[in-house]
Amino acid sequence: MTLTIDPIKGLRGAMRPPSDKSLTHRAYMFAAIAKGDSLVQNPLRGEDCESTLACLAQMGLTFEWLNETTVRIRPAAEWTQPTDHLDCGNSGTTMRLMSGLIASRDLDVTMIGDASLSKRPMKRIAEPLRLMGATVEGDTPPLHIKGSSHLKGIDYQSPVASAQIKSCTLLAGLRAEGETWVTEPSLSRDHTERMLTALGVPLLRDGDKRVGVTGGAEFGGFEFDVPGDISSVAFFMVAAAILPTSRLEIKDLSVNPSRTGIFDVFLEAGIPCILEEEREVLGEPVTDLVVASPFEKKRSFEISGPLVPRLIDEIPVLAVLATQCQGTTVIKDARELRVKESDRIELVADGLRRMGASVETFEDGMAIEGPVKLQGTYIDAHHDHRIAMAFAVAGLAAEGQTTIDGAESIATSFPSFESELRRLTVEG
Ligand code: S3P
Repeated sequence: MTLTIDPIKGLRGAMRPPSDKSLTHRAYMFAAIAKGDSLVQNPLRGEDCESTLACLAQMGLTFEWLNETTVRIRPAAEWTQPTDHLDCGNSGTTMRLMSGLIASRDLDVTMIGDASLSKRPMKRIAEPLRLMGATVEGDTPPLHIKGSSHLKGIDYQSPVASAQIKSCTLLAGLRAEGETWVTEPSLSRDHTERMLTALGVPLLRDGDKRVGVTGGAEFGGFEFDVPGDISSVAFFMVAAAILPTSRLEIKDLSVNPSRTGIFDVFLEAGIPCILEEEREVLGEPVTDLVVASPFEKKRSFEISGPLVPRLIDEIPVLAVLATQCQGTTVIKDARELRVKESDRIELVADGLRRMGASVETFEDGMAIEGPVKLQGTYIDAHHDHRIAMAFAVAGLAAEGQTTIDGAESIATSFPSFESELRRLTVEG
């Protein structure tokens, strides 16, 4: 599918962002292992999360939509052996987190994915699961897991700050013998830990980079109203920041500190962003906020070190922001971008250069010179939703028309992206 973007003057109005993808995946997976029914309100109806629900249903979970926005989930008393492969579609979170649940049960399962997911590294989760006693074959999908209900707890040192590795290992640890610990080089998103704590499962902690669980912990069904996704609204936040007449009110946004690196960047760049008082939903802080285009010139910024996992999915659109900031923006320590839905370092740099920006790439990041007047062009998003949306934002601020191929991928995380854009547009 092709998306055509014409330049506009700004974005104005109020929006409720699509619900958080990471939280929806986890809500479904936790509901699948709870003792009792759960009610999930406002889950993200994107293809990635639908893949998670469909895979869980193949192993005995049942669900019923009570209305357009609420699903009641009944876990299987005993998970059943699926009769077919589990298709995780484009979703790395589905495959990696689900692996932990499958590995800790007496199931023999093959998980497959689309062309993009089939290239992504799975050794990173296979390794801890093998150490715990599961049989895992396939360093890239298809991933074949022979699970066991007799896994042993491990003390795992993860080589990358990845919530998917951490969550996979902890989920397996919930049914393993003894304690399972994960240490990561810097803190990745901690939704799994927060949700476990909110559900009454004691979390073992040793500093902020080392967490664990004790096998055998159980919890009851729950109700969860999924707040908005900062990784999705980031596209609108950046658009508001770079389009001159913008003022955007954002409602019900999840502002978990392990995900809010974009606020640090906005502060450094001098972009106004006003946050209301926070409330809490199942351990997750939630707030409303206002983002507006600054009167002053925007300043370049640096993304490195522990900030990287706090905004990893936002880097493509923050690179677009960098083209509109004064000076050289440097992004480093972000090698993980090369193994996301696409090689995001190459695709971002290539697309921005095609639009007239000066970008240098490194193995673990890039340097971007700004400000530059971008030129509309043809972009191949390579079926990566965040590449498609980042270049749509670039196109809004460009001269002439931008055509984005591979835009059907946007439906994995933000099905209403285009309609929300049109609704909030101030015509140019
Ligand atoms: C996710 C974690 C991140 C992120 C992905 C979703 C999660 O991946 O990029 O979109 O829900 O745990 P890593 O933790 O592997 O970096």
